[in-house]
Amino acid sequence: MKKILTLAPWGLLSSLLAQTHSVGNEELYRDTTNYDIYGIKQIEAIRTWGLGDGNGLGEIFTFLQAHYFSSIFLAIVIVVPLLFLMHYMIIGQRKFQHGKSIKVFSTYNIIVHWCAAIPFIFVCITGLIMMFGDKLGGGAFVRFARDIHALATCVFAPFGILMFFMWVKDALPRLHDIRWFMIMGGYLSKANNAIPAGKFNAGQKVWFWVATVGGAFMVFTGAFLFFQAAPLDTLRLYAIIHNIIGFAIIILLITHIYMAVFAIEGALGSMLNGNMGEEELAILHSCYYEEIKKLGKV
Ligand code: HEM
Repeated sequence: MKKILTLAPWGLLSSLLAQTHSVGNEELYRDTTNYDIYGIKQIEAIRTWGLGDGNGLGEIFTFLQAHYFSSIFLAIVIVVPLLFLMHYMIIGQRKFQHGKSIKVFSTYNIIVHWCAAIPFIFVCITGLIMMFGDKLGGGAFVRFARDIHALATCVFAPFGILMFFMWVKDALPRLHDIRWFMIMGGYLSKANNAIPAGKFNAGQKVWFWVATVGGAFMVFTGAFLFFQAAPLDTLRLYAIIHNIIGFAIIILLITHIYMAVFAIEGALGSMLNGNMGEEELAILHSCYYEEIKKLGKV
């Protein structure tokens, strides 16, 4: 661990510099990238190490990596947006009167949200590029994506922690979340009935925990994979965990963006100016609306 913490910034910096400045200055910009591993051959190298030892994760990792991981990611990035396109065409966008608006998110909430969200999106996109690296021709493009993947992770991590402590109280499970799941948040009907939800509905709470705690697991397993700083089977286990949490993150990120930009007219505004319309709150977050009404905040 100490080795990772001391080497991380230098490893990253040196590999980026190596790509841009190596010509004629080898001794100054010694390229530390192990081309026998990174790019197309990375998975090959991990897959074949120790195969046949029979007692490690070699077999299951090879099987999952060869047959499932990239196919599942491909299915996710195709099927999930298609499902939301169908939802948009059949159920349509939710519209509310934009009468009185109520401050729901503070400036601090908005700043932390975007400082976490933007690098997080870079991490997700570059992660998918690495997953399909061999289909995208590998080489410098995939290595660059790998370095951006690590760099964006370093930016996301501190803001992910701030986001966790900022919203953990609002994301704690409540009884009405069960009712929310039973009606899928009312998103499968056009009726504008009051939905049992707090400041965050049950779906938003799941996204919060996957983005923050799941994100922490991704940073942890990703750091070991990036620096190959663990025994082979541990690396394989971390790769399996990294991929499985990766499935949930990509599915819920697409869902979050659909809900925040397309499913509810004007929802995006709440993460730009912090305000939500009174009718939208009263219907989509009816329990929270009752709470703030009792407090005289409406
Ligand atoms: C283009 C991308 C994004 C947009 C447009 C967006 C927009 C929003 C909006 C409008 C809200 C307020 C409540 C809501 O409508 O859900 C929100 C909340 C939130 N966002 Fe994002 N966001 C984006 C990306 C992200 C990313 C990458 C993360 C992960 C770190 C994230 C984490 C959260 C969390 C945890 C909440 C509170 C719970 C929730 O409402 O789902 N967002 N976002």
